[in-house]
Order: sequence, then structure tokens, then C-alpha cells
Amino acid sequence: MIEFAIDADGAAVGACGVHLLDDVNARTVELGYWLGVGYWGRSIATATTRGATAHVFATLRELARVEAWVFAWNPASARVLEKAGFTLEGRLRARVHKDGVTIDQLAYVRLTNELRDEPR
Ligand SMILES: CC(C)(COP(=O)(O)OP(=O)(O)OC[C@H]1O[C@@H](n2cnc3c(N)ncnc32)[C@H](O)[C@@H]1OP(=O)(O)O)[C@@H](O)C(=O)NCCC(=O)NCCS
Repeated sequence: MIEFAIDADGAAVGACGVHLLDDVNARTVELGYWLGVGYWGRSIATATTRGATAHVFATLRELARVEAWVFAWNPASARVLEKAGFTLEGRLRARVHKDGVTIDQLAYVRLTNELRDEPR
């Protein structure tokens, strides 16, 4: 697991973690992120996701996929991943139980060859 601090205006305002899976999933990285509320809406998470994804593909030459999991009620996070070139791969129903509620989870994925077609 590698955790990057997100720097904005010279301050650490959030974090981005990448976790390399193992065994038969050893060519997959899981990616996650959070950002302090005061910094939302400035495309910081999108820039972070793009940068972290490019970094892991450049560093881990055998890597095939980067995946990120989104709670179904979090459209801002889904949008971040879409802007960073991830594809919605599926909706896993009732996969998460959080704060007393059972919710769906969305699987977003970026494959290595998709990096050549960076979205604007
Ligand atoms: C989700 C989060 C990372 C977004 O960070 P951010 O820097 O504000 O995101 P960006 O500015 O790069 O992009 C946000 C996009 O979501 C859109 N958006 C925001 N709220 C939305 C909503 N309620 N519905 C739909 N889209 C929404 C924005 O309009 C923007 O898209 P656009 O550029 O096409 O207009 C941030 O809100 C956060 O850290 N939340 C708490 C932790 C979390 O949810 N982490 C992700 C776990 S999967």
C-alpha cells in the first residue's frame, strides 16, 4: 500500500492510496482518495486520479488494471473516475453495509492500453 498526500496551495489537503493486490490478482491495483471539503470542486481529485494512475502504470510495468470502488450515492466520485478515463464495469448490489444502510457499489476500471487515449 502506498499513500500519497494531495498538495494544494502548499498544504496537505487529502490523500490518495494505491494498493497492489496479490496472487492471481497481482496485476491489479486498487485506488482510493479523499479530499478536504474546502477543496472540493476544483478538479483536484481528477488531477490526482490521473496522476496516480499514470504513475502506477509507469512504475509497475506488468500492471494490467487499476480499479476503484464507489458507493452508489457518490456521483461526484463516479464523475472523477469518468473524467480520469475509467470505465464503469459493473454495479454490485447490496455489497456494502455502512452506517446502518446496505448500499450498492460501483466498480470503475482503467486498463493499461487505455492510457494512450487520455481524455480531455
Ligand atoms: C469525491 C471527491 C474526491 C471529489 O473531489 P473533487 O476534487 O471535488 O472532484 P473534481 O472537482 O475533480 O470533480 C468532481 C465532479 O463531480 C461533479 N459533481 C459534484 N457533485 C456532484 C453530484 N452531487 N452529482 C453529480 N456530479 C457531481 C462535479 O460537477 C465535477 O464534475 P465536472 O467537472 O464534470 O463538473 C471529494 O468530494 C471527496 O473527497 N469526498 C469524500 C471522500 C470520497 O467520497 N472519496 C471517494 C471514495 S470512492
